[in-house]
Amino acid sequence: MTSNLLKKLNFKRNWIYEVIVTTNGDGRNAAPMGIYTPDFEHICLNVYKSSETCRNILNSKIFVVNFVDDIELFYSASLDTDLEYVGNSLVLNGASGYLELEVNGIERSDTVTKLSSRIIDYSGEGEIYLLNRAKFLALECLIMSTKPVIAKKQILEYYQVIKKIAPRSRYERIVKDIIDRI
Ligand SMILES: Cc1cc2nc3c(=O)[nH]c(=O)nc-3n(C[C@H](O)[C@H](O)[C@H](O)COP(=O)(O)O)c2cc1C
Repeated sequence: MTSNLLKKLNFKRNWIYEVIVTTNGDGRNAAPMGIYTPDFEHICLNVYKSSETCRNILNSKIFVVNFVDDIELFYSASLDTDLEYVGNSLVLNGASGYLELEVNGIERSDTVTKLSSRIIDYSGEGEIYLLNRAKFLALECLIMSTKPVIAKKQILEYYQVIKKIAPRSRYERIVKDIIDRI
């Protein structure tokens, strides 16, 4: 699998995409997580050390990233109930595509472990939906900026989030412009 794949899938460098990560441990486990690529070669995630996902990945070194565009599925994954898998695999029913990944780097800190991984396999139907929250946060900021009483503190907070999850995006530029005007 080459770096072309992530570019073809429309990944942007260091943008954070919300996905459902599935792992094998004491049975199958699913959890919503954010992933990013620093170089179009590797997929990274920062996982809480206390999570089952972290434990499972450190043990098996293999995990699956499911691309999902259904908040109800995210909710089910968050509770880890009502999820259906494709056969015996780690692929979720309802995912528009998936990446199978193998860990190739581990950086430990106090509460979070940063995992870097390389792509072993990909499958997807047509265009997969990459869920990044910046677009919705920017829209929310725009709405807030039109209210009679403007919640500037909230807009500033969302701006910080947007800078983190979609660096150098038009969403960052637009919200910066909104802040300069209010
Ligand atoms: C949309 C979304 C994104 C999340 N991103 C992360 C993340 O990047 N890293 C992380 O450790 N937890 C993240 N979480 C929290 C985990 O999903 C949560 O801690 C979960 O309970 C871990 O489950 P596990 O113990 O089965 O692994 C996220 C939650 C949601 C809803």
